[in-house]
Amino acid sequence: MNNATVTAVACANIAFIKYWGNRDPDLRIPANGSISMNLDGLYTQTQVSFDPALTSDHLVINDRPATDPAQQRVRKLLNRVRQMSRKHEFAWIISQNNFPTGAGIASSASAFAALSLAATTAAGLDLSQRGLSRLARTGSGSACRSVPGGFVEWRAGDSDETSYAYSLASPEHWDLMDCIAIVSPAHKPVGSTEGHNLAGSSPLQAARVNDARRRLEWCRRAILERDFESFAEVVELDSNLMHAVMMTSTPPLIYWEPVTLAVIHSVQAWRRNGLAVCYTIDAGPNVHVLCPGATAHQVIAQLNQIQGVKNVLSASPGPPAHLIESNS
Ligand code: DP6
Repeated sequence: MNNATVTAVACANIAFIKYWGNRDPDLRIPANGSISMNLDGLYTQTQVSFDPALTSDHLVINDRPATDPAQQRVRKLLNRVRQMSRKHEFAWIISQNNFPTGAGIASSASAFAALSLAATTAAGLDLSQRGLSRLARTGSGSACRSVPGGFVEWRAGDSDETSYAYSLASPEHWDLMDCIAIVSPAHKPVGSTEGHNLAGSSPLQAARVNDARRRLEWCRRAILERDFESFAEVVELDSNLMHAVMMTSTPPLIYWEPVTLAVIHSVQAWRRNGLAVCYTIDAGPNVHVLCPGATAHQVIAQLNQIQGVKNVLSASPGPPAHLIESNS
Protein backbone atom coordinates (compact mmCIF):
# COMPACT_ATOMS: atom_id res chain seq x y z
CA MET A 1 0.00 0.00 0.00
CA ASN A 2 1.27 3.48 -0.86
CA ASN A 3 1.86 5.86 2.00
CA ALA A 4 -0.43 8.88 2.02
CA THR A 5 0.75 12.43 2.62
CA VAL A 6 -1.78 14.01 4.93
CA THR A 7 -2.11 17.68 5.85
CA ALA A 8 -4.02 18.94 8.89
CA VAL A 9 -4.70 22.39 10.27
CA ALA A 10 -5.43 23.33 13.90
CA CYS A 11 -5.95 26.71 15.58
CA ALA A 12 -4.17 28.08 18.62
CA ASN A 13 -6.46 28.65 21.60
CA ILE A 14 -6.78 31.08 24.51
CA ALA A 15 -7.73 29.72 27.92
CA PHE A 16 -10.46 31.49 29.90
CA ILE A 17 -10.09 29.03 32.79
CA LYS A 18 -6.43 28.03 32.90
CA TYR A 19 -4.59 24.73 32.93
CA TRP A 20 -1.68 25.09 35.34
CA GLY A 21 -0.17 22.06 37.06
CA ASN A 22 -0.49 18.33 36.37
CA ARG A 23 -1.62 15.40 38.48
CA ASP A 24 0.28 13.17 36.07
CA PRO A 25 2.97 15.08 34.14
CA ASP A 26 3.78 12.19 31.80
CA LEU A 27 0.22 11.69 30.57
CA ARG A 28 -0.62 15.36 31.19
CA ILE A 29 -3.60 14.70 33.42
CA PRO A 30 -4.20 18.25 34.68
CA ALA A 31 -4.77 19.39 38.25
CA ASN A 32 -8.02 21.07 37.12
CA GLY A 33 -10.33 21.33 34.12
CA SER A 34 -10.04 24.31 31.76
CA ILE A 35 -12.07 26.24 29.18
CA SER A 36 -10.81 27.98 26.04
CA MET A 37 -11.70 29.42 22.67
CA ASN A 38 -10.01 28.43 19.41
CA LEU A 39 -8.38 31.35 17.62
CA ASP A 40 -9.51 31.56 14.03
CA GLY A 41 -6.75 32.48 11.59
CA LEU A 42 -3.90 31.70 14.00
CA TYR A 43 -3.01 28.16 13.11
CA THR A 44 -0.43 25.45 12.48
CA GLN A 45 -0.50 23.46 9.27
CA THR A 46 1.25 20.09 9.46
CA GLN A 47 2.01 17.52 6.79
CA VAL A 48 2.89 13.95 7.70
CA SER A 49 4.02 11.08 5.50
CA PHE A 50 5.41 7.75 6.63
CA ASP A 51 8.38 6.63 4.56
CA PRO A 52 9.89 3.11 4.63
CA ALA A 53 13.24 4.57 3.49
CA LEU A 54 13.69 6.68 6.66
CA THR A 55 15.80 5.56 9.62
CA SER A 56 14.36 8.20 11.98
CA ASP A 57 11.57 10.78 12.07
CA HIS A 58 12.36 14.10 10.38
CA LEU A 59 10.71 17.23 11.71
CA VAL A 60 10.86 20.60 9.92
CA ILE A 61 9.25 23.63 11.60
CA ASN A 62 8.84 26.86 9.64
CA ASP A 63 11.29 25.62 6.96
CA ARG A 64 14.04 24.71 9.45
CA PRO A 65 15.06 21.40 10.99
CA ALA A 66 13.59 21.36 14.51
CA THR A 67 15.68 21.52 17.69
CA ASP A 68 16.44 18.29 19.57
CA PRO A 69 13.87 18.85 22.36
CA ALA A 70 11.15 19.51 19.76
CA GLN A 71 12.19 16.39 17.79
CA GLN A 72 12.01 14.29 20.95
CA ARG A 73 8.59 15.57 21.93
CA VAL A 74 7.20 14.87 18.47
CA ARG A 75 8.85 11.43 18.31
CA LYS A 76 7.13 10.49 21.56
CA LEU A 77 3.74 11.28 20.07
CA LEU A 78 4.55 9.46 16.84
CA ASN A 79 5.59 6.41 18.87
CA ARG A 80 2.09 6.38 20.36
CA VAL A 81 0.62 6.58 16.86
CA ARG A 82 2.87 3.72 15.68
CA GLN A 83 1.80 1.64 18.67
CA MET A 84 -1.90 2.27 17.97
CA SER A 85 -1.65 1.63 14.23
CA ARG A 86 1.04 -1.08 14.25
CA LYS A 87 2.76 0.94 11.56
CA HIS A 88 6.48 0.92 12.21
CA GLU A 89 7.83 3.31 9.62
CA PHE A 90 9.37 6.68 10.42
CA ALA A 91 7.82 9.87 9.12
CA TRP A 92 8.44 13.25 7.55
CA ILE A 93 6.70 15.99 9.51
CA ILE A 94 6.59 19.42 7.89
CA SER A 95 4.98 22.05 10.11
CA GLN A 96 4.26 25.72 9.57
CA ASN A 97 2.76 28.32 11.90
CA ASN A 98 0.93 31.10 10.09
CA PHE A 99 1.24 33.50 13.02
CA PRO A 100 4.48 35.47 13.28
CA THR A 101 7.16 33.35 14.94
CA GLY A 102 8.27 34.83 18.18
CA ALA A 103 5.05 36.83 18.50
CA GLY A 104 4.64 35.18 21.85
CA ILE A 105 1.63 33.11 20.81
CA ALA A 106 1.89 29.57 22.15
CA SER A 107 2.28 27.21 19.23
CA SER A 108 2.33 23.89 21.09
CA ALA A 109 -1.49 23.70 21.25
CA SER A 110 -2.06 24.15 17.52
CA ALA A 111 1.06 22.14 16.68
CA PHE A 112 0.17 18.99 18.62
CA ALA A 113 -3.50 19.13 17.58
CA ALA A 114 -2.53 19.34 13.89
CA LEU A 115 0.17 16.69 14.30
CA SER A 116 -2.22 14.26 16.02
CA LEU A 117 -4.78 14.54 13.24
CA ALA A 118 -2.27 14.37 10.38
CA ALA A 119 -0.22 11.52 11.87
CA THR A 120 -3.14 9.27 12.83
CA THR A 121 -4.76 9.78 9.42
CA ALA A 122 -1.48 9.10 7.60
CA ALA A 123 -1.09 5.92 9.67
CA GLY A 124 -4.53 4.74 8.53
CA LEU A 125 -6.31 5.34 11.85
CA ASP A 126 -9.69 7.05 12.08
CA LEU A 127 -9.88 8.29 15.67
CA SER A 128 -12.97 9.88 17.17
CA GLN A 129 -12.68 13.52 18.20
CA ARG A 130 -12.34 12.36 21.79
CA GLY A 131 -9.59 9.90 20.86
CA LEU A 132 -7.72 12.62 18.97
CA SER A 133 -8.09 15.05 21.84
CA ARG A 134 -6.65 12.46 24.25
CA LEU A 135 -3.70 11.83 21.96
CA ALA A 136 -3.00 15.55 21.42
CA ARG A 137 -3.10 16.05 25.22
CA THR A 138 -0.11 13.74 25.66
CA GLY A 139 1.95 16.03 23.39
CA SER A 140 0.86 19.31 24.97
CA GLY A 141 -1.97 19.64 27.48
CA SER A 142 -3.59 22.68 25.89
CA ALA A 143 -3.47 20.91 22.47
CA CYS A 144 -6.39 18.69 23.50
CA ARG A 145 -8.52 21.86 23.44
CA SER A 146 -7.51 22.72 19.85
CA VAL A 147 -9.06 19.49 18.53
CA PRO A 148 -12.78 20.38 18.95
CA GLY A 149 -14.13 23.67 17.57
CA GLY A 150 -15.34 27.00 18.99
CA PHE A 151 -15.66 27.20 22.77
CA VAL A 152 -14.08 24.16 24.37
CA GLU A 153 -13.91 22.52 27.79
CA TRP A 154 -11.17 20.08 28.84
CA ARG A 155 -12.52 17.66 31.40
CA ALA A 156 -9.63 17.04 33.76
CA GLY A 157 -10.56 13.40 34.37
CA ASP A 158 -8.24 11.15 36.33
CA SER A 159 -6.86 8.84 33.64
CA ASP A 160 -5.85 8.78 29.99
CA GLU A 161 -9.37 7.64 29.02
CA THR A 162 -11.23 10.29 31.03
CA SER A 163 -9.09 13.38 30.28
CA TYR A 164 -10.18 14.99 26.99
CA ALA A 165 -11.77 18.12 25.55
CA TYR A 166 -15.15 18.64 23.90
CA SER A 167 -16.95 21.56 22.32
CA LEU A 168 -19.21 23.57 24.64
CA ALA A 169 -20.50 25.76 21.80
CA SER A 170 -19.79 26.24 18.10
CA PRO A 171 -17.72 29.18 16.76
CA GLU A 172 -20.95 30.90 15.64
CA HIS A 173 -22.44 30.75 19.15
CA TRP A 174 -20.89 34.01 20.37
CA ASP A 175 -19.26 36.83 18.42
CA LEU A 176 -16.32 37.28 20.76
CA MET A 177 -12.96 38.67 19.69
CA ASP A 178 -9.51 38.10 21.17
CA CYS A 179 -7.35 41.19 20.59
CA ILE A 180 -3.80 40.19 21.48
CA ALA A 181 -1.58 43.04 22.61
CA ILE A 182 1.96 41.97 21.73
CA VAL A 183 4.20 43.41 24.39
CA SER A 184 7.30 41.40 23.71
CA PRO A 185 8.07 38.95 20.94
CA ALA A 186 10.90 37.40 23.00
CA HIS A 187 10.88 33.70 23.81
CA LYS A 188 9.67 32.95 27.33
CA PRO A 189 12.51 32.23 29.76
CA VAL A 190 10.58 29.42 31.45
CA GLY A 191 8.30 27.35 29.23
CA SER A 192 4.91 26.02 30.35
CA THR A 193 6.08 22.42 30.75
CA GLU A 194 8.63 23.53 33.34
CA GLY A 195 6.09 25.92 34.85
CA HIS A 196 3.49 23.16 35.37
CA ASN A 197 6.07 21.26 37.42
CA LEU A 198 6.55 24.26 39.71
CA ALA A 199 2.85 24.91 40.35
CA GLY A 200 2.70 22.56 43.35
CA SER A 201 5.45 24.51 45.11
CA SER A 202 3.10 27.49 45.54
CA PRO A 203 0.97 27.44 48.71
CA LEU A 204 -1.77 29.05 46.60
CA GLN A 205 -2.09 26.20 44.06
CA ALA A 206 -4.29 24.05 46.32
CA ALA A 207 -6.71 26.95 46.86
CA ARG A 208 -6.79 27.67 43.11
CA VAL A 209 -7.47 24.02 42.26
CA ASN A 210 -10.04 23.54 45.05
CA ASP A 211 -12.08 26.45 43.70
CA ALA A 212 -11.79 25.40 40.03
CA ARG A 213 -15.13 23.59 39.81
CA ARG A 214 -16.96 26.80 40.80
CA ARG A 215 -15.09 28.90 38.20
CA LEU A 216 -15.62 26.29 35.47
CA GLU A 217 -19.37 26.26 36.14
CA TRP A 218 -19.44 30.10 36.22
CA CYS A 219 -17.49 30.42 32.95
CA ARG A 220 -19.46 27.68 31.19
CA ARG A 221 -22.72 29.41 32.08
CA ALA A 222 -21.47 32.87 31.07
CA ILE A 223 -20.46 31.49 27.66
CA LEU A 224 -23.70 29.59 27.11
CA GLU A 225 -25.75 32.67 28.12
CA ARG A 226 -23.42 35.09 26.29
CA ASP A 227 -23.23 37.09 29.52
CA PHE A 228 -20.15 39.27 28.97
CA GLU A 229 -20.21 40.96 32.39
CA SER A 230 -20.18 37.66 34.26
CA PHE A 231 -17.65 36.23 31.78
CA ALA A 232 -15.28 39.18 32.30
CA GLU A 233 -15.32 38.73 36.07
CA VAL A 234 -14.48 35.03 36.08
CA VAL A 235 -11.89 35.28 33.27
CA GLU A 236 -9.89 37.99 35.05
CA LEU A 237 -10.20 36.20 38.40
CA ASP A 238 -8.91 32.97 36.91
CA SER A 239 -5.99 34.63 35.14
CA ASN A 240 -5.04 36.52 38.31
CA LEU A 241 -5.20 33.28 40.33
CA MET A 242 -2.86 31.50 37.92
CA HIS A 243 -0.38 34.38 37.97
CA ALA A 244 -0.57 34.49 41.78
CA VAL A 245 0.46 30.81 41.77
CA MET A 246 3.24 31.51 39.27
CA MET A 247 4.57 34.44 41.30
CA THR A 248 4.58 32.42 44.52
CA SER A 249 6.21 29.27 43.14
CA THR A 250 9.76 28.28 44.06
CA PRO A 251 11.48 29.72 42.08
CA PRO A 252 8.92 32.44 41.35
CA LEU A 253 7.76 32.90 37.77
CA ILE A 254 7.02 36.49 36.86
CA TYR A 255 5.90 36.72 33.26
CA TRP A 256 4.59 40.28 33.38
CA GLU A 257 6.47 43.27 32.09
CA PRO A 258 5.68 46.94 32.81
CA VAL A 259 3.60 47.19 29.61
CA THR A 260 1.60 44.10 30.65
CA LEU A 261 0.47 45.99 33.74
CA ALA A 262 -0.22 49.15 31.73
CA VAL A 263 -2.58 47.15 29.50
CA ILE A 264 -4.31 45.59 32.55
CA HIS A 265 -4.90 49.05 34.04
CA SER A 266 -6.21 50.42 30.74
CA VAL A 267 -8.62 47.52 30.28
CA GLN A 268 -9.94 48.01 33.82
CA ALA A 269 -10.45 51.73 33.19
CA TRP A 270 -12.22 51.11 29.86
CA ARG A 271 -14.58 48.63 31.55
CA ARG A 272 -15.34 51.12 34.35
CA ASN A 273 -16.25 53.57 31.58
CA GLY A 274 -18.77 51.15 30.13
CA LEU A 275 -16.79 49.30 27.43
CA ALA A 276 -17.34 45.52 27.41
CA VAL A 277 -13.76 44.30 27.64
CA CYS A 278 -11.60 42.07 29.85
CA TYR A 279 -8.07 40.63 29.93
CA THR A 280 -6.39 37.27 30.34
CA ILE A 281 -2.68 36.41 30.27
CA ASP A 282 -0.93 33.09 29.59
CA ALA A 283 2.67 32.12 30.41
CA GLY A 284 4.15 35.26 28.87
CA PRO A 285 3.88 39.06 28.92
CA ASN A 286 1.33 39.52 26.10
CA VAL A 287 -2.22 40.43 27.04
CA HIS A 288 -5.28 38.81 25.44
CA VAL A 289 -8.05 41.41 25.50
CA LEU A 290 -11.50 39.95 24.95
CA CYS A 291 -14.50 41.91 23.71
CA PRO A 292 -17.63 41.55 21.58
CA GLY A 293 -16.80 41.54 17.85
CA ALA A 294 -18.77 44.75 17.30
CA THR A 295 -16.38 46.83 19.41
CA ALA A 296 -13.14 45.07 18.44
CA HIS A 297 -12.05 47.86 16.06
CA GLN A 298 -12.27 50.38 18.91
CA VAL A 299 -10.44 48.10 21.37
CA ILE A 300 -7.67 47.41 18.84
CA ALA A 301 -7.26 51.14 18.15
CA GLN A 302 -7.06 51.91 21.88
CA LEU A 303 -4.57 49.09 22.53
CA ASN A 304 -2.36 50.40 19.74
CA GLN A 305 -2.16 53.74 21.54
CA ILE A 306 -0.65 52.26 24.71
CA GLN A 307 3.05 52.98 24.75
CA GLY A 308 5.06 49.75 24.49
CA VAL A 309 2.37 47.72 22.70
CA LYS A 310 4.22 46.57 19.61
CA ASN A 311 1.37 45.14 17.61
CA VAL A 312 -2.19 43.83 18.04
CA LEU A 313 -3.39 40.55 16.52
CA SER A 314 -7.05 39.60 16.56
CA ALA A 315 -9.02 36.39 16.27
CA SER A 316 -12.65 35.30 16.47
CA PRO A 317 -13.79 31.79 17.58
CA GLY A 318 -12.12 29.19 15.37
CA PRO A 319 -13.03 25.83 13.83
CA PRO A 320 -11.99 22.34 14.97
CA ALA A 321 -8.78 20.71 13.76
CA HIS A 322 -9.38 19.51 10.20
CA LEU A 323 -7.73 17.90 7.21
CA ILE A 324 -7.12 20.10 4.21
CA GLU A 325 -5.72 17.74 1.64
CA SER A 326 -4.84 14.14 1.34
CA ASN A 327 -3.23 12.26 -1.54
CA SER A 328 -2.03 8.71 -1.75
C1 DP6 B 1 -0.68 29.18 30.70
O1 DP6 B 1 -0.28 23.24 27.22
O2 DP6 B 1 1.63 24.85 26.89
O3 DP6 B 1 -1.28 28.60 28.47
O4 DP6 B 1 1.29 20.59 28.43
O5 DP6 B 1 3.57 21.38 28.96
O6 DP6 B 1 2.64 21.73 26.64
P1 DP6 B 1 2.35 21.62 28.13
O7 DP6 B 1 1.80 23.03 28.58
P2 DP6 B 1 0.84 24.00 27.80
O8 DP6 B 1 0.31 24.89 29.02
C2 DP6 B 1 -0.57 25.95 28.81
C3 DP6 B 1 -0.55 26.86 29.96
C4 DP6 B 1 -1.33 28.14 29.81
C5 DP6 B 1 -2.77 27.98 30.26
C6 DP6 B 1 -3.71 27.25 29.33
O9 DP6 B 1 -3.55 27.30 28.09
O10 DP6 B 1 -4.66 26.68 29.86
